[in-house]
Amino acid sequence: MKIAVIGGDGTGPEVAAEGVKVLKSVAKLEGFEKELELTNLDWGGDRYLKTGEALPADGLDQLRQFDGILLGAVGHPDVKPGILERKLLLDLRFGLDQYINLRPVKLFPGVETPLKDKGPDDIDFVVVRENTEDLYCGAGGFMHKGTPREVATQTAIYTRGGCERCIRYAFELTRKRNNPKGKKLTLVAKTNVLTTGHDLWWRTFNEVAEEYPDVEKDYNHVDACCMWIVKNPEYYDVIVTTNMFGDIITDLSGIIQGGMGVAAGGNINPDPGGVSMFEPMGGSAPKYTGTGKINPIATINAVSMMLDQLGQEAAAERVMSAIMHVTGTKMKSQSAGKMGYSTSEVGDLVLDALA
Ligand code: IPM
Ligand code: MG
Repeated sequence: MKIAVIGGDGTGPEVAAEGVKVLKSVAKLEGFEKELELTNLDWGGDRYLKTGEALPADGLDQLRQFDGILLGAVGHPDVKPGILERKLLLDLRFGLDQYINLRPVKLFPGVETPLKDKGPDDIDFVVVRENTEDLYCGAGGFMHKGTPREVATQTAIYTRGGCERCIRYAFELTRKRNNPKGKKLTLVAKTNVLTTGHDLWWRTFNEVAEEYPDVEKDYNHVDACCMWIVKNPEYYDVIVTTNMFGDIITDLSGIIQGGMGVAAGGNINPDPGGVSMFEPMGGSAPKYTGTGKINPIATINAVSMMLDQLGQEAAAERVMSAIMHVTGTKMKSQSAGKMGYSTSEVGDLVLDALA
């Protein structure tokens, strides 16, 4: 199992180190320690400031040699916003065709949610966000830039193939998740306004649904979905949505599961030979670099997702149970920003719980 570790910027390397610590430990406990091969890649803001490149020219080819990628965080205070996001994060997602952004929304025991009277039984759903199309394609441009007549366009691109593969993945996942409360897949879009692009999503969703009679198909407009995620999160099982809407609703969902210290995501290419990349949802928080204040649970959660994707289900499960043990006991009721432990102490607590 060859894993590339891109610590990235700010506090990224610190949380990635805790993820690696847990990965090594679970590999030993589950007996695949000999197969685990870790490679650190120093790609990110510092490299960009020195060389003008966030990653080497053959970066994508290098990554194709790995089974999985663990990413810390992207975003450097001395690099203008948008550059590293595009060159590191988005170029990797697009270049490796990681067409699924998988974001489980699960309130771990003991973790505080800002939602009144909601607990772990109520907050447990998954968002499948399309990850290679939509407004993220960078299509568009300026005319008469900097003049009063300036025109700017930014075009959302949707393809039949692109939405179909994402929707099919979401139906498969809903079936596999087999929620005892009922298997339900909710398409989240805006068909009442985006009457071309989201019409394509709507028609494709309904066609693919025919192949999954065991899954209840459901639809929400994105604005209504934002209300219901707050009011009735228990309504959801799996959500499938477009790239931009998925970006927004997964921050909303991230905060109801306890915030950026716990939320993780996977950029997944589920096709044979595909290389997937797992990351905590939080940013690089550069002002906290070296302070030990960032919760590594999100990164450890990303490690569990990576193990699951790589077919190490027992190890994934073991890491997940250890996380839930730690949040439910030692770290119980520590509200956001007050972990009660340093970054590496939280990693140690998870190691103890693993064993
Ligand atoms: C995310 C982030 C990225 C996105 C940014 C950093 C480009 O917000 O992973 O959700 O918009 O996809
Ligand atoms: Mg986002």
